[in-house]
Amino acid sequence: MSSITVAVLGTGTMGRALGMGMLRAGVVTAEGISGTVKHAREADEVRSLVDFAVDTDNAAAVRRASVVLICTKPHGAAQVLSDLADEGALEHDPLIISIAAGVSIAALEHAAGCPVRVIRAMPNTPCLIGEGMVVLSAGSKASEGDLDVAETIFTPLARVLRLDEEHMNTVTGLSGSGPAFVYVIIEALAEGGVMMGLPRKVATELAAQTVKGAARMVLDTGRHPASLKDDVTTPAGCTISALLSLEDGRLRSVLARGVQEAARSAAGLGGEKS
Ligand SMILES: NC(=O)c1ccc[n+]([C@@H]2O[C@H](COP(=O)([O-])OP(=O)(O)OC[C@H]3O[C@@H](n4cnc5c(N)ncnc54)[C@H](OP(=O)(O)O)[C@@H]3O)[C@@H](O)[C@H]2O)c1
Repeated sequence: MSSITVAVLGTGTMGRALGMGMLRAGVVTAEGISGTVKHAREADEVRSLVDFAVDTDNAAAVRRASVVLICTKPHGAAQVLSDLADEGALEHDPLIISIAAGVSIAALEHAAGCPVRVIRAMPNTPCLIGEGMVVLSAGSKASEGDLDVAETIFTPLARVLRLDEEHMNTVTGLSGSGPAFVYVIIEALAEGGVMMGLPRKVATELAAQTVKGAARMVLDTGRHPASLKDDVTTPAGCTISALLSLEDGRLRSVLARGVQEAARSAAGLGGEKS
């Protein structure tokens, strides 16, 4: 894996999570990865947060890299690629992996203006601790081998799935935005504990471990969540009493509609006409 060299264009929240995750996992060496930011004034601070070189020269970083990760905000992603092509920085044909929400493969291929191997990826922030979720879609010039390279890069950081691009905005609304939804759920569960007298730190630990454990039950057993829920629900017990109260508050449809809304919103982020 050390033969892979990576340029992280946009070393913000996600760029740092992915770059540092790859470094920790040994996917790249510290010399084999470099990052960029847009503003020179930000570079010093970012350098203090990561263990690899960071500056503002996208083209120089790309010329050193076999894999280019585009981690800028969505509205800037296509322009970054277009500028790189204009500067001749793509002539060595690096693999381009874009994590920009709502930016289609077609828009990226068009922006490059020359044949480029593009993979669209949707990660999430738990990649930082090796517990992320990443979905990959291949562009028209990307091969199975390119998908294998992307999967090798992301596997130490996340569960990795390959899906058709048509699902990417929904993936963004579910697993891309999802950690934020779950943090609110953890906070809310903890508030319930605090309301009933638990110290906040204890309540937060109980809530977070409960979410983690329940998630592992779903993933490790492969059982339907409803069946696992039934196991916890003793007739006339406290859990069914609480579940009915949650249903009265429309918890289920509120969460599902939240994902739907995030997916709709993701579709507009790249500024493309649908
Ligand atoms: N945050 C998430 O949970 C999440 C999850 C999945 C996917 N994503 C995707 O990840 C991407 C980044 O999101 P984020 O939350 O990490 O954003 P962020 O924290 O704002 O980071 C964006 C970074 O891009 C840099 N940048 C902007 N224009 C650039 C350019 N032309 N060349 C080089 N660097 C440039 C910025 O530099 P300056 O600071 O100097 O402006 C900043 O470091 C987005 O496209 C988003 O859709 C995010």
